[in-house]
Amino acid sequence: MPASAIERVRPLIRTRQMREFTDEPLTDGELEAITEVARWSGSSKNEQPWRFIVIRDVDTIRKIAEAGLPQTRSLRTAMGAVAIVLPDEPGRQLSRAYDDGRAAERMLIAASMLGLGGGIAWVRSDVRDAVRDLLGLPPDRFVRTIVALGHPTEAARRPKSAPGKGRLPREELIFEEHWPSR
Ligand SMILES: Cc1cc2nc3c(=O)[nH]c(=O)nc-3n(C[C@H](O)[C@H](O)[C@H](O)COP(=O)(O)O)c2cc1C
Repeated sequence: MPASAIERVRPLIRTRQMREFTDEPLTDGELEAITEVARWSGSSKNEQPWRFIVIRDVDTIRKIAEAGLPQTRSLRTAMGAVAIVLPDEPGRQLSRAYDDGRAAERMLIAASMLGLGGGIAWVRSDVRDAVRDLLGLPPDRFVRTIVALGHPTEAARRPKSAPGKGRLPREELIFEEHWPSR
């Protein structure tokens, strides 16, 4: 019998944030696959405003981690990372942020499909210059999101909440046809 619709999308439902990794390295093939997924992400008007920097140098990853704590804590143990570099353009922030999120989430899903883990490390605006220096970015580009990658530790793989409790219940989130009447 073919799998039910819900079972077929289960890999997406199972994609969670991983923030702690073992020291097992990532392969070139894994990083290539994850960045291919990023490259094929959709963006506003297909402008592809992003450039992706693959960071394999653990020293650089750890320096970014320390600069941006606590949001960048997943980079304390990540064995690889992908920085999403965006143009710093007034008036386009909303659309760029939307594109940023689409590429980041796809990379998390790709990592999960490969049996790896990914985590979003958000670069606060006060940390942007430090990251710009570490990655050698020109002044008109910035990084808001870095996807931390690696093999999650057992502890990181463990569910963070009781089964079914990680999200609000369906009836609180999903409505039929119109906003529910009181
Ligand atoms: C826009 C956005 C920014 C996030 N920023 C961070 C962050 O800076 N550091 C971090 O560790 N997790 C970050 N996360 C991950 C969320 O905290 C995480 O998705 C949420 O706690 C649910 O966890 P789960 O996906 O493992 O269920 C971010 C998620 C989103 C959507």
